[in-house]
Amino acid sequence: MKQTEQWTGRLGFILAAAGSAIGLGAIWKFPYVAGTSGGGAFFLLFLLFTIVIGLPLLLAEFTIGRSTQKEAISAYKTIAPGSLWHWIGRLGVGTSFILLSFYSVVGGWILIYLYRAVSGQLMGQPYDALFGAVISDPASAVSAQFLFMLITAWVVARGVQNGIESANKYMMPALFILFLVLMVRSLTLDGAMEGVKFFLWPDFSKLNAEAILYAMGQSFFSLSVGVSVMVTYSSYLAKNENLVRSAGSIVGLNLLVSLFAGLAIFPAVFSLGVEPKAGPGLLFIVLPSVFEQIPFGGVFLLVFLALFLFATLTSAFSLLEIIVASLSKGNEEKRKRLSWVIGLLIFAAGIPSALSYGPLADVHIFGKSIFDAADYLVSNILLPLGALLIAVFVPMKMKREVLQSELQVSSTWGRSLFLLWLFLLRFAAPIAIVVVFVHMLGVF
Ligand code: PHE
Repeated sequence: MKQTEQWTGRLGFILAAAGSAIGLGAIWKFPYVAGTSGGGAFFLLFLLFTIVIGLPLLLAEFTIGRSTQKEAISAYKTIAPGSLWHWIGRLGVGTSFILLSFYSVVGGWILIYLYRAVSGQLMGQPYDALFGAVISDPASAVSAQFLFMLITAWVVARGVQNGIESANKYMMPALFILFLVLMVRSLTLDGAMEGVKFFLWPDFSKLNAEAILYAMGQSFFSLSVGVSVMVTYSSYLAKNENLVRSAGSIVGLNLLVSLFAGLAIFPAVFSLGVEPKAGPGLLFIVLPSVFEQIPFGGVFLLVFLALFLFATLTSAFSLLEIIVASLSKGNEEKRKRLSWVIGLLIFAAGIPSALSYGPLADVHIFGKSIFDAADYLVSNILLPLGALLIAVFVPMKMKREVLQSELQVSSTWGRSLFLLWLFLLRFAAPIAIVVVFVHMLGVF
């Protein structure tokens, strides 16, 4: 989108913002992090962080973007000229770069699965060996990641995300339906209830400081907040659209997809005897085996992968968009060139992550694989840091009248909610983020 171009109404915007939010975070990352971080108690915390901090932050990013109608870096410059606050935007651009570098690796895995599904090399294979084979082959991991970035750069260079997001109108409901099918099958497998219990029954003895940090990071990651992506997207939004309602639907949809993903995966994990702590491969390991037990499972799996790829791409578009928009500032020629150049740089930066399950498997950073380290840096350090700064910035630097008019506060009920929102931003979010950080460092 050009800076001057606007979404086609509220639906276009919600679809784009929901498209950015719903992606690997809810479908792939949430189940595996819940698996490694203790199940039910993690889910409860994630829910809490999403509603108490994630939702207010999403609204905060919306008000910054729409009130200035500028992309991530200029938006902060417009509100607080001559100050250092625009570094929040720069931090977001840098974070998006690293995020997309490993995000595209997982996008590549989906492409490989899709290719295998089409050529009949997916079903009937031993599930655990299959995933290992897919990700450890360096040539296919890197070329699939390349293809994923190629599609992303192509769409962003043409500035046609808006048109593509409209397809979300059909893709999203279709994804919901397939998740329902998957969930029903998974829940009716032998021993499924063990999985439901693991996923939903909060056992706080399984929670440690790291799990709390993961729950917070996951809530930011899956809502796309903390990186000013939502600032950029809402800058293309017309003045009369209702931000609160949009934010509410995005959070609701995102939570629902996460819940569906958990209920589709954990019963199957327990029924098949897969280790819930299997890590980033969890979804990919379980998926083919569940579809195998459904009539016409091969076809369903193919459609599921196509929809999953689509959801992942719409998030990737938003990540490349924020970088390109902030550097090209509405210049069409620059936008095209930058999309390709940055797309290529992100691909290159992601190669070590793509190889970290193959030739670079022995390289560890702070005890984590390259892929896990990049994810940890983004989800558990940079996103919370960005979120903290935005939470401080909005109540401190933006005028109350502007905020009130952006959020269309009119009734007394509206005013109370507005005050609650400010309170959550000003106090709850910063305190929670700092406390979780400090706790994590082992200070108390
Ligand atoms: N929310 C996206 C997902 O869950 C990832 C993302 C994070 C996109 C931050 C943009 C910004 O897949």
